[in-house]
Amino acid sequence: MDVTRVLFVCLGNICRSPLAEAHFIAHTERKGTAHLFVCDSAGTSNNHAGAQPDRRTLINAASHGLEISHQARQVRREDFFSFNVLVAMDQHNLSHLERMKPANTAARLMLLRDLDDTDPGADVPDPWYGGAELFEEVYHLLHRCTERLHEHLHQQEHPAL
Ligand code: 4NP
Repeated sequence: MDVTRVLFVCLGNICRSPLAEAHFIAHTERKGTAHLFVCDSAGTSNNHAGAQPDRRTLINAASHGLEISHQARQVRREDFFSFNVLVAMDQHNLSHLERMKPANTAARLMLLRDLDDTDPGADVPDPWYGGAELFEEVYHLLHRCTERLHEHLHQQEHPAL
């Protein structure tokens, strides 16, 4: 059984994408599908490469009992060959990935909120300049949208299961 490799992408890889990755992994663990997916996250910029997730993201996630362990890194060309799906948090991230995408890759690009019934195609807001309420909003948004993404990929990639 092939695993589906999913890369979550934001700008800095310290707020949204490591949280999206942690939520997605938690959904796979709850649904018993962890053996079917490999996940990572990365940023379009290298400004925070090597850093731990933002303290505010860690505190917010811990308040909900979600642990995040990640070291920021920038998206690289090889990611388009080693991941099946690259999932952008906002339109800027998606445009960056579209410009970077090599012609000879089968990797698919998508916007996380393409699948969001509440506001399809919207951005996951960047909480960097926001307060604790925005981190809380992003937490719940990512929880909901990654659950939807997990259902979608599970049905699409592993229809017989
Ligand atoms: P992220 O948030 O893209 O969700 O990790 C940001 C992190 C850092 C910056 C902007 C957004 N920054 O400007 O340094």
